[in-house]
Amino acid sequence: MKLWAVANQKGGVGKTTTAVILAGLLAERGRRVVLVDLDPHASASAWLLSASSPREGVAALFGGADAPAAADLLESTAQPGLEVLRATPALAALERRLATQPGMGRVLGEALGVLHSRADHLILDCPPTLGLLLVNALAAAERVIVPVQTEPLALEGLRRMQETLEMIARSQGREIDSWVVPTLYDQRTRASREVLGRLRSEFPAGLWPGVIPVDTRLRDASLAGELPSRFCPRSRALGVYRLLVEALLGERPRDEAVAWDTPLDEVRAEEVAIA
Ligand SMILES: Nc1ncnc2c1ncn2[C@@H]1O[C@H](COP(=O)(O)OP(=O)(O)O)[C@@H](O)[C@H]1O
Ligand SMILES: [Mg+2]
Repeated sequence: MKLWAVANQKGGVGKTTTAVILAGLLAERGRRVVLVDLDPHASASAWLLSASSPREGVAALFGGADAPAAADLLESTAQPGLEVLRATPALAALERRLATQPGMGRVLGEALGVLHSRADHLILDCPPTLGLLLVNALAAAERVIVPVQTEPLALEGLRRMQETLEMIARSQGREIDSWVVPTLYDQRTRASREVLGRLRSEFPAGLWPGVIPVDTRLRDASLAGELPSRFCPRSRALGVYRLLVEALLGERPRDEAVAWDTPLDEVRAEEVAIA
């Protein structure tokens, strides 16, 4: 079972969108996927699940001896193979309570470990604040995907995120396999182009060469409560997310340059370096 966290300490950078799309694309390929919504805002849960549920959601995993088994908290979605462990308002209270309790950093990883017979992939959609939920997610993750919006303030957020990843790596004595993914790229704006250039020159470590373009169809899909892989399978952004999935799965080289601005069919036929 692979456990990937989608994380950035900044909000509005495309974390939830990326987590939902990756989960949907993996499920579409026949993998058994669980999307774990760790953000008290519950955007991923609202996107994929109905508003109410008798299930307690992911916060219940932190209940100590009374905690239910993770498998009993899963909820199915319209996409076969994709289940969700929902976020509830209890997550926000939990974050405050956990902050004062030592030794809580590995609770999530242990609780999710039992899903290994049920899922091939766990995708964790993380909250934008550095608290114990994010620390739990990063400590459990073998790979961290860091969406970075191509706008000037994003670089400072990425710097903070990288410091956090280094802290976790040091405390666990391991390398964290991080993938920085530029998002919300608008080629018409100078800010987008400049920030992409700075990402490439100042943050080359872990930077995926592809770029997720701004694509209003993704927002439409979330408003419609549908997976982009079903709602807009041929949209440009989804085409680039597919290339990202292929790179994440090792089906294409990680550092292969992919063009974001060519039509989908051409992207798939011929990979063009971005100038
Ligand atoms: N590639 C994209 N093109 C257009 N809109 C996007 C794209 N990625 C995300 N969005 C929109 O940007 C907003 C923030 O994205 P979201 O995934 O919720 O970020 P986060 O989880 O980091 O807060 C949402 O309204 C989402 O629909
Ligand atoms: Mg989010």
